[in-house]
Amino acid sequence: MDPIILNERTKRLARVYDKHKEDLVQEGGYISPVRHLWEDVLISAVLKKPILLKGPSGSGKTKLAQSISHFFNQPMHSVNCSVDLDAESLLGFKTINTTDGQSIIEFVEGPVVQAMKEGHILYIDEINMAKPETLPILHSVLDHRRMLTNPFTGEVIHAHPDFTVVAAINEGYVGTSPMNEALKNRFISFAIPYLSGEQLREIIQTLFPQAETALVDTMMNINEDLKKQVLNGLLAEEAASVRSLLDAIALAGHMPVKRAIQYAIAEKMDDRMERELVMELVETWVK
Ligand SMILES: Nc1ncnc2c1ncn2[C@@H]1O[C@H](COP(=O)(O)OP(=O)(O)O)[C@@H](O)[C@H]1O
Ligand SMILES: [Mg+2]
Repeated sequence: MDPIILNERTKRLARVYDKHKEDLVQEGGYISPVRHLWEDVLISAVLKKPILLKGPSGSGKTKLAQSISHFFNQPMHSVNCSVDLDAESLLGFKTINTTDGQSIIEFVEGPVVQAMKEGHILYIDEINMAKPETLPILHSVLDHRRMLTNPFTGEVIHAHPDFTVVAAINEGYVGTSPMNEALKNRFISFAIPYLSGEQLREIIQTLFPQAETALVDTMMNINEDLKKQVLNGLLAEEAASVRSLLDAIALAGHMPVKRAIQYAIAEKMDDRMERELVMELVETWVK
């Protein structure tokens, strides 16, 4: 691993957090499809470059962000974008507090302001779900300036050196708008694929140590077949989702494989042909 990653890690690990902040440190466990992906993401974090993870649903984007938090033992604040996301949900809001008959206006800091000041990780999920006019407020936060003038208080905030931004998008997903160029340009972008083969087996074995080898093999075979049909253009990409596969394995501990796959994978497909195709593939592996 590049020494600058290790040096930065040593520096960040030396920080001590109170209980409340310690609770914001996430669990690790991301498995990198290629060894350099994980390291390259860490390099970007160390170089203070905002990280953009692009990949389909259930490919491990959130897990990867959590694993950065775990690696640096650094608290993480999450923002889930939707059309309702506004400046207040990012930066915070004013509120009136009454103590001893005295009313004072206080500003409750939002995730962006907290993460900047404290030097935490800011995870912005589904960044392309936000309305395009909401996010330009972050431009100065995301480029070399690493600062923000809080429009609600006038306060000028310079980011702590450890402040790290990770965002995730599912490109081309319904309901998303293409990410604005000026915003996209500020990120270092990484394509996050679904795992397969031995690495997928590794996740399954970590999460389901009790699962029988025969079941795991069947699920892996079905996943391979689903992947082929995704490549053939007959199934949506999400048919090969690692999340869905893990859900199916969890269910299969308590019901027949067919039903497990039906609930966890087939029923999520938008059209009937896709749902039927998934179940036909399953038939070839389980009678
Ligand atoms: N590469 C990976 N390494 C470890 N776990 C993974 C990986 N890919 C998917 N998973 C697992 O699949 C599930 C979904 O991952 P998640 O990070 O929520 O996906 P996303 O945010 O891309 O939708 C989680 O249980 C996660 O642990
Ligand atoms: Mg996610």
